[in-house]
This record gives sequence, structure tokens and C-alpha cells, in this order.
Amino acid sequence: MNERVLIVDFGSQVTQLIARRIREAGVYSEVHPFNKVDAAFVADFAPVAVVLSGGPASVLSSSAPTADPALFEAGAPVLGICYGQQLMAAQMGARVLAADHREFGRATVETVAACALFEGLWEPGGRYPVWMSHGDRVESLPEGFTVVARSAAAPYAAIADEGRGFYGVQFHPEVVHTPDGAGLIRNFVLRVAGAKGDWSMAAFRETAVARIRAEVDGGRVICGLSGGVDSTVAARLLHEAVGDRLTCIFVDTGLMRAGEADEVVGLFRGHFNIPLVHSDARSLFLERLAGVEDPEKKRKIIGAAFVEVFEGEAAQLGGADFLAQGTLYPDVIESVAFDGGPSVTIKSHHNVGGLPERMGLRLVEPLRMLFKDEVRALGVELGLPDRFVGRHPFPGPGLAIRMPGAVDPDKLGALRRADAIFLEEIRKAGLYDDIWQAFAVLLPVRTVGVMGDDRTYEQACALRAVTSADGMTADFYPFDAAFLGRVAARIVNEVPGINRVVYDVTSKPPGTIEWE
Ligand code: XMP
Repeated sequence: MNERVLIVDFGSQVTQLIARRIREAGVYSEVHPFNKVDAAFVADFAPVAVVLSGGPASVLSSSAPTADPALFEAGAPVLGICYGQQLMAAQMGARVLAADHREFGRATVETVAACALFEGLWEPGGRYPVWMSHGDRVESLPEGFTVVARSAAAPYAAIADEGRGFYGVQFHPEVVHTPDGAGLIRNFVLRVAGAKGDWSMAAFRETAVARIRAEVDGGRVICGLSGGVDSTVAARLLHEAVGDRLTCIFVDTGLMRAGEADEVVGLFRGHFNIPLVHSDARSLFLERLAGVEDPEKKRKIIGAAFVEVFEGEAAQLGGADFLAQGTLYPDVIESVAFDGGPSVTIKSHHNVGGLPERMGLRLVEPLRMLFKDEVRALGVELGLPDRFVGRHPFPGPGLAIRMPGAVDPDKLGALRRADAIFLEEIRKAGLYDDIWQAFAVLLPVRTVGVMGDDRTYEQACALRAVTSADGMTADFYPFDAAFLGRVAARIVNEVPGINRVVYDVTSKPPGTIEWE
């Protein structure tokens, strides 16, 4: 089994980043809510190191969440971050106080002694930028600890008991605003805990294939392909594990981008020889959507039609035992909620229309322990073409939510052409990988233009391109004017029905990425 780091979550907004930083150091890590982590859990998990996350609670409150003592007795090094530091210190007998002034945002720490955590990064007496976000602070040292860094508002900004490999930091090393943070975390898992750092996608592939074989155990698996990275990588991994007992179903809704359906079908049938049902449901989707203008209604109609077609195709195959989904780790991590008392809520997975329940299928989710960038790396490891692995996300309802108003074949045709031109120019300019998503939107607005000697009265088209880390927040992409002019000229010249192009310069928030 891989060496594993146990991250105990106390409800910080950025706990997932701890897992990412540790995995980037080549060590496998998992996040678990504090109230699930008891002595038996720790013994079973056998962590090579433990990290206690930050969190919104105060250790001074009587209802404050605590760390099971087994975490400190497992013989594994422990790193407490922010609330985790205060908790570790308080549970070991130190004093924690509400600070006179709180410290939020950028701060500077001064190192006062060397320690293994700082090796190769921070010299004694140096001053370094960090990201702080705390009200309480540690006021006295627990036995065995020394102070290794301080800040203006935190006399014990970093504390260490090098004998036991216990460290506490008041700042957040997991966020990018602590520039040396990733290095500090790497030092903790590699130098302090002595982990080998040999976790890789090749290792994951091997264990995942064995696990899927054991789980599926001779059963039949169906997998819905969307053309996106997650379902494609999941299908490729499953095929390696169970071979022809996997059948993929690709529902062509007619709402895809130019060439998308051919690309997916070509990749699966031609390149990988994976059994694939290609269901051409374009006319069904168009009929159901005819005349519907409300975006949420469009979404519901598309979801229901998808389930209907998928069920029909699965029945034709003679049934199955498992439904494969490309669920990722951010959807799996249980979030810790602190309202009144600690409670745990599990985020709902996006099962399409409750398919597994309706069809009596068990779920197989081979990517449920991976982050998106790890899925991309696994895709490369599995031999998927770069062009596929690096694809921008595309929404399930497709082009239907990129044309405010009713969907019809003419509009779909125009939008597809404008969108293809925009993406072609982005690729030509070498910008595709710098952008999170880029697309055209066909607006329900007619504008006057002149073409040759004639006046035109045709539709306007908006271009949208954003940068983002996760789709939750986004900035518009700052193309230069010459680029935008080139794309606009091509669209107006090459796409009948469009005579004006505008560029969307809204960030998210307050806007959203999609227009509907
Ligand atoms: P918004 O528009 O909410 O989008 O800023 C955030 C991300 O979600 C995608 N998106 C969807 N994906 N079904 C999907 O599968 C949907 O109905 C849907 N709506 C938005 C959007 O493309 C972006 O990546």
C-alpha cells in the first residue's frame, strides 16, 4: 500500500489545498472529518504523517472540536495549521488566548531558530511573507516545544518539538499567498516524516486497476461518455481493468460543438477499441426543446431526455451491474459544518437523474480520490492524446445554454461555426492552455450592419473566455485588440446570419461563466 498522510479536517475553507500540496510532493493523502477520526481509524489508516487543518472554531469555546489523542500517539509526525496548531498546543497543556488584534491576510514572520521544516528555505533571523487568518493565538509553549518563528501578532507563529516531529504553524502554508508554503509542506512529509515521495499516476493506475477488478468481480459495467476529460479517463481506466465487460454509451444530443461527436467516437472505437454505443438522439432533443426559452426548463428537458435515451440503450445491451461515473475527490470530501454543534454533511454527487437508483445499478467511481489535474495526468499516463486531456470543460446542456431563447437547428449551425472559428484562432495563437473556458454565445439580438452595398439586419454573437482555477471564480481573458478584431472579422465574413461580434468583459462574481 502507498504511504498515506492523514489530514484531519476541522472545517477550513482551504483544507483541500493541504491534500493537493502533499500529493504534489509525491505522497498520497486523504482528508477526513475530525469527528470520524478515532483511535481505531488511526490504527487502520496507519498514517506516515498527520496534518491538523485550520477551522472556524475557537479552542476557547466549550464546544470546540478536538483531535483524538491517538493522533499524537501513533508515532507519526504531526503538523498543526492555524486552528490545528492552537488545538495541538491546547491539548498538550499550553495557553491559547483571543488576540487583541486579529491578523488576516499577508503578514511577515521572522524565523528565530532553524528546524527541519525550514531546511533549504528559511534561515534563522530571516523575514518571510506568509498568509495569516486567525483571531486566537498560542500564548505559552507546550512541554517539549520551542518557538521557531514569530510575527507581529503571533509570538508563536511557528513552534516545533523536533524530537517527536511535532510542528505547529499559525499561518497557512497550503495557500499560494505563502510563497514558501509548498516547500514547507514538502519538508514536513519528506524530511520530517521520511516519506519516499514515490506516489505517481503510474502507481495509481496499477492499484486502481486491481481495485476495480476486485470491486466489479465479473459484473458488467456501463459508462456514459460526455466527451469531457473525466468520463473519458474513467472509461479508459475501466477498460484496462475489465476489458469487454465495459460498454460506453455516447448520447449525441445534437448540442455538441463542431466535430465533438466524431472525435469521441473515433477515439474510443478507432484508437482504443473500447466497445461503444453511439446513440444518435439529435432529433429527439431538438423536438423536446422546440419553442422552450426558459434556461432552467431547457436544462430539465435535456436531463430527462438524456436519462430516457441512456436507459433505452442500456436495456438493449441486456442490462448491467455497475454504472461508472467520473466523480472527483472535491465532490467526495465530506464537508464539516459548524452550526450549533459539529455535524457532517456529505455533498450530493451529481448522479444524472438518479440513474443508478432507477436502474438498480451499483456505482463504480474510479477517480473518486483524484483532483482534476491528477485526472489529466492519469489521462496522459493512459495514453490519451494531449488534445483530449487538456480540453476545456463543457456543460452537459451544451450549446442549448449558449443561445438565450429557443433552440433551433439554424441557430445551432451558426453558433457551432462561430464557436469553431474562435477556438481555432485561440489554438493558433497558442492561448488554449492559458484559458479555462472559451466559447461563443449567440445572442437573441438583431443589429444593423452594412455588407457590400447592402444593409444587413442579423444576429449578434458574444465571445466569452475566462481564466479560473476551479470554475468557482473567474476573470475575463485579456486578449489583445488585434486578436479580437481578427476573430470578429472571420465570424462576420464566414458565418451567415451573424453581423456583429462583442466581447464579454465580466468577471465571476458578479457574472457567471455561462450566459444562461
Ligand atoms: P457558471 O456559468 O455557473 O459555470 O459560472 C461554472 C462551470 O459550470 C459549468 N456549467 C454546467 N455544467 N451542467 C454542467 O454540466 C450545467 O447545467 C452547467 N451550467 C454551468 C460551466 O461551463 C462552468 O465550467
